[in-house]
Amino acid sequence: MADWFADLLTVLEDDRRAHLEAAGRKAAEAAQCVPPGLRPDLVAAVTLHDIGYGHPRLGFHPLDGAAYLAELGFSPVVCHLVAHHSASTIEAEERGIDLAAYAPFSVHRDDLGPAHAVMWWADLTTGPQGQDMTVEERLDDIAARYGPDDVVARSARRAQSVLLAAGQSPVGSIQVPF
Ligand SMILES: [Fe+2]
Repeated sequence: MADWFADLLTVLEDDRRAHLEAAGRKAAEAAQCVPPGLRPDLVAAVTLHDIGYGHPRLGFHPLDGAAYLAELGFSPVVCHLVAHHSASTIEAEERGIDLAAYAPFSVHRDDLGPAHAVMWWADLTTGPQGQDMTVEERLDDIAARYGPDDVVARSARRAQSVLLAAGQSPVGSIQVPF
């Protein structure tokens, strides 16, 4: 991993850093699923997808991370992928966040579907300490860790069918709402 990625991750707890490093490695291994020109942005986005936990603003880490990375000069594609990772719009709705907050990070490119697919798969098959998990185990772990009434667990339940599908394979295409 590039030193500057490692530097950005130091703001996070050890477990979360391990999750991101492992997910980023998986995305690098599956990067042939996207066109060559998208691979660096894909790996950057997956390695940094939870960085928003270290830079809270709205208190919603996908959008907080995208805003932070945009300020650092990461590409609109990286910010878009981070903002939308793992069905984040459903959790945004559950949290009562106005979905207009996604507008600054929307790039409106249909060809990003395969990159979303790799990203969601890498996140959903990597556990909270960076361990390999099936998506089914990952969703069970989220439910157990957060408790059934927590907004994160509630959102994962609501998104269950798309998350289960996304976690089966890095090969695919996921279209996000904006
Ligand atoms: Fe994650």
